[in-house]
Amino acid sequence: MRLPPTSEFYQSCVQLFWPLHATAVIAHRGLSAQAPENTLLSVQEAAAAGAHLVEVDVQLSADGVPVIFHDETLTRICQRPQGVHEFTYAQLQAFDYGTWFNGQAQSLLSLETLLAYAQQAQLALNLELKAAIQHPAIRWQQALAPLLHQYAHLPLVFSSFDWSLLELCQALWPHYPRAALIENLHADELQKIAAYPCHFAAIHTDWCQLTPDVAHKTRALGWSLATYTCNHPTAIQSLLQAGVQAVFTDDVRLWSRDQPIFPHHQNQTLAAFA
Ligand code: G3P
Ligand code: MG
Repeated sequence: MRLPPTSEFYQSCVQLFWPLHATAVIAHRGLSAQAPENTLLSVQEAAAAGAHLVEVDVQLSADGVPVIFHDETLTRICQRPQGVHEFTYAQLQAFDYGTWFNGQAQSLLSLETLLAYAQQAQLALNLELKAAIQHPAIRWQQALAPLLHQYAHLPLVFSSFDWSLLELCQALWPHYPRAALIENLHADELQKIAAYPCHFAAIHTDWCQLTPDVAHKTRALGWSLATYTCNHPTAIQSLLQAGVQAVFTDDVRLWSRDQPIFPHHQNQTLAAFA
């Protein structure tokens, strides 16, 4: 079964900022099972496969240009031990972001290029803001503000493990929904999230640690809930059945509503049934 076309989802769901009844499959770093992660090709292939949202990781170069890259260093992808923040944008552009994956060279993807593509393709994005410690908040503001002004009508969801960056987003661009990233979501973490001085529309958490009970409590407290990164079709169905509304996967082609739903118990993590 194919996913609904992205444009349908764009019209009916994301424009309404991820309503609580919606479910979604999110392409993690694009269609990263098929194409080098966080490249334009990966995003394009995710869109072609019908991803509801495409998640990418955003970092700032040494000269403050937002680029799409996940790791703390370039070792795995570009065979360089330094971080993105240690190179200028021009230096980063000289590296190859695809050969490590399948022997085919790919260019660095800038946030500007990504937003231009998303606008043309009517694609909804989850921008995960990374490595805040390397740059002060003002640097992020200067980097993002012109682009968000230029692409003001794109459906975007911001997320970060660094919630202070989401506070910045709330202060400057309050109309975009924000999602708190937390690796291990326990029931007692929910109060901490509720008390944090930033409103989160959603919580994004590791699916391997999540229990149906915590998923239920999260939803009962009014948050949308998304889990990363699940590449097992049956587990994806279990997560959606447990009330998780969006699942990050490296391969959105895996998702099918025809997959059987696994049974589960309140005190076991959903990963036990994968
Ligand atoms: O945004 C969800 C997920 O991408 C968070 O983990 O390390 O893959 O960026 P990571
Ligand atoms: Mg990410």
